[in-house]
Amino acid sequence: MNQLVSQLSQYKDDILKESVTNAAELEAFRIKYLGTKGIVKASMAFMKDVPVESKKEAGQLLNDFKIFTESHYAGLKDKIESSGHSGQTYSDNTLPGYAFPVGSRHPISIIQNQIISIFRRLGFAVAEGPEIEDDWHNFTALNLPLNHPARDMQDTFYIHTQPDWLLRTHTSSVQIREMEKQQLPLRIICPGRVYRNETISARAHCFFHQVEGLYIAEKVSFADLKQTLYFFVQEMFGKDFNVRFRPSYFPFTEPSAEMDISCVICKGKGCSVCKRTGWVEILGCGMVHPNVLENCGIDSSKYTGYAFGMGIERITMLKYQVKDLRLFSENDLRFLKQFTAQ
Ligand code: DAH
Repeated sequence: MNQLVSQLSQYKDDILKESVTNAAELEAFRIKYLGTKGIVKASMAFMKDVPVESKKEAGQLLNDFKIFTESHYAGLKDKIESSGHSGQTYSDNTLPGYAFPVGSRHPISIIQNQIISIFRRLGFAVAEGPEIEDDWHNFTALNLPLNHPARDMQDTFYIHTQPDWLLRTHTSSVQIREMEKQQLPLRIICPGRVYRNETISARAHCFFHQVEGLYIAEKVSFADLKQTLYFFVQEMFGKDFNVRFRPSYFPFTEPSAEMDISCVICKGKGCSVCKRTGWVEILGCGMVHPNVLENCGIDSSKYTGYAFGMGIERITMLKYQVKDLRLFSENDLRFLKQFTAQ
């Protein structure tokens, strides 16, 4: 018994002195002490020489020795693994994480969403329609019959004749589609992509984006239109912007106007962007022409309405001071990365 006690304490001293600094030494330690032919197993052989009355005590000692060795081995293993010398890969939680590239919204989408949210607050609902339109919805119903000279200003890409299919030149076509449903009063904004047969330059493109608005009810007046657009400008650009209305012509509105705001660059003093006038044009508008209402089956003696339409590119260029329209469709990341999503 005494022999067993002194032998085990010798082994324990040896174990504590073992130097283990890498995975290979750790494995050698395991084989030497805990392997099938290791010292722990071999010590169990003492049992057969121990007298019966001491067997319980010897068993306890041997078991304690086994637990001591196993837990020392577990401690060494932890040490090797956390020191990174294990030869295996373990994650280091203190390293900085991988940076995942996060996209940002396209500037046109950012401004489109802002425009929509301003008008939503005024009770406008969003309405959408097809980009491939028929002649009726894009032109004829809007008081632009075949051979009307104003069609010239909105030349487009004609896909098919009889039936007449073309790429819509404005989202006013969506206004017609909604009016045809004859659910009045009607208060909608129509965002979307539109097309024109134009030579591409810094100021024109063969496609761009619009938001058009329409409000039809009883007793809607030009004063309602002015106040709505004034609110829009203040929300979009800020409180210190003035607006002015200039008489204009659109076949689908009477009277018609174009709306200017004080120049975003010089705030009205006069600069090269506003051509020294202090004003920049942002949209067209007017009171819906009675012919348009009648074309959609709406009684023009009972109902009146206003409409307006703006190019989102134009608003975006003014807001972010972008000088070339082509940048919006070139997909140059150096340009697009400058706009953070909102
Ligand atoms: N549709 C016109 C355009 O694309 C813009 C416009 C002007 C829309 C007056 C309207 C409006 O609804 O009333 O140039």
